[in-house]
Amino acid sequence: MSGTQTKEPKGVRLDHISKIYKNPKTGQDFYAVHDVELDIKPGTFVTLLGPSGCGKTTTLRMIAGFESPDEGEIYLGGEPINELTPNKRDTAMVFQSYALFPHYNVFDNVAYGLKLRGVPKNEIKERVTNILKLVELTDMEQRMTNQLSGGQQQRVALARALVVEPGVLLFDEPLSNLDAKLRVQMRTEIRRIQQALGITAIYVTHDQSEAMAISDNIILMKGGVIAQMGSPTEIYYHPNSEFVADFIGECNFLPCTVTGREGEDVTAEVYGHPVKVRSEHDKLEGAAEIVLRPEAIEIADQGLLPCKVELSCFMGSYQNYHVRVGDTLVKIADNCPIGKKTFQVGDDAFISFRSECAHLLET
Ligand SMILES: Nc1ncnc2c1ncn2[C@@H]1O[C@H](COP(=O)(O)OP(=O)(O)O)[C@@H](O)[C@H]1O
Ligand SMILES: [Mg+2]
Repeated sequence: MSGTQTKEPKGVRLDHISKIYKNPKTGQDFYAVHDVELDIKPGTFVTLLGPSGCGKTTTLRMIAGFESPDEGEIYLGGEPINELTPNKRDTAMVFQSYALFPHYNVFDNVAYGLKLRGVPKNEIKERVTNILKLVELTDMEQRMTNQLSGGQQQRVALARALVVEPGVLLFDEPLSNLDAKLRVQMRTEIRRIQQALGITAIYVTHDQSEAMAISDNIILMKGGVIAQMGSPTEIYYHPNSEFVADFIGECNFLPCTVTGREGEDVTAEVYGHPVKVRSEHDKLEGAAEIVLRPEAIEIADQGLLPCKVELSCFMGSYQNYHVRVGDTLVKIADNCPIGKKTFQVGDDAFISFRSECAHLLET
């Protein structure tokens, strides 16, 4: 599909950005965002992810110009923009609340930003029509927004932001008001449109699966600072802390002692049994933790580490096991269990994993 975006997408750089707020209860200043350094490449989809209160919205609002940083400089397409008001920035924002004009129909809601910019009438007609086609709202032009479903309203909000062809598109939890099924459908839509237009997108969410599904890169935040950034795969398989590992899906942590190196792998012992973990850490020695995803572990009659089964339940797409390895409880998701041996509570078994599915964390 050919996009309607004619402009080049822009990159965004946050150069040591901080925002200080006053805690209304204690009256004390605190950093809502602290020393955030970020370089977002043009045309990429980047998600700010993290628990409630970690500073995602504040960061996004500083990029949009609704808040100004107390420290640091923001660059859009290489230009410093701290001094620019929101309407002078080449950004557009999609909100959780949609923020549509209730007395306008769909066409006028979408056309609003173009009218404001003095775009000629015939060009407005063409651009709005094109964008409504892109978000699959053709034939809804005359509807009032209160006659639309939540999903359709969100499409209007998206169209309204896209139609001005912003250098950067900003989203603050845009799907939170939709039901679970529609959320999954709309996030795929948003990603499709972003890729079709080649636009830069910065997307705020607290939902890790949403972030994984749509992002080129994820910025995971905690307490106003960046905990880790990287592609979804990097963050999932190479979390740099227990916080990151836990936030991005389920995780097991096996205590180990590093014993040496064999090619690409580090050798270690878990409760006295030798295992291998793929790791670039060269200096790592002594006590550490092995990070293992539940679906990366196999359970069988033979294997790497002996275990005892403490829970075994059929979940449809997988068999869910809890097993005890030494003192550690290990969760296993045995995918597509049909035709495989099912272990029962009390059974002795072994777990195994491929070295490249495991990751070492220093303790
Ligand atoms: N205008 C404000 N005044 C004081 N504190 C604020 C204000 N806006 C946000 N905060 C606080 O700053 C922190 C970060 O908020 P926010 O960026 O909204 O988090 P998130 O979007 O990740 O949930 C929170 O502790 C929040 O309570
Ligand atoms: Mg928020």
